[in-house]
Amino acid sequence: MSRLFRIRAAGIGAALILAVGGSLASADERQDVERGRELYREKCAMCHAAGGMGTGLLSRRYPKGQELLENRTDLDPAFIATAVRGGIGNMPRIARGEVSDAELALISKYLTRRERN
Ligand code: HEC
Repeated sequence: MSRLFRIRAAGIGAALILAVGGSLASADERQDVERGRELYREKCAMCHAAGGMGTGLLSRRYPKGQELLENRTDLDPAFIATAVRGGIGNMPRIARGEVSDAELALISKYLTRRERN
């Protein structure tokens, strides 16, 4: 086996490992988003689902469809954390005893997910 061939083979091996690693990471990512969706339904939807008081108030400021946080594509984790931990307008702050930092991180992943369905 030539030296060049061995170097090439090692390169292909490394590329394969990276490719497999990449798809595993995105499976994890999908699982986090799914868990975030469940937590959102549990902790936020009482106010942010259709008919909720959060949705009602946000519908005064956002165009139709965008009053639902789940439909927004402009949210970022820092803004979500500020709203949740500090409260915003008529939304009361939510303490860590109620929604932990880990849970909030998952909820944020859901609300900022790229894949929409
Ligand atoms: C008790 C009801 C209630 C709960 C529970 C609640 N919210 Fe809210 N939320 C509101 C209200 C009301 C507003 C609108 C505030 C205003 O503008 O007066 C709001 C606004 C927000 C905003 C700001 C949106 C914007 O563009 O201004 C974010 C982000 C948000 N909520 C995230 C969450 C998340 C995440 C959760 C769950 C962890 C949650 N909220 C739980 C009532 C609630």
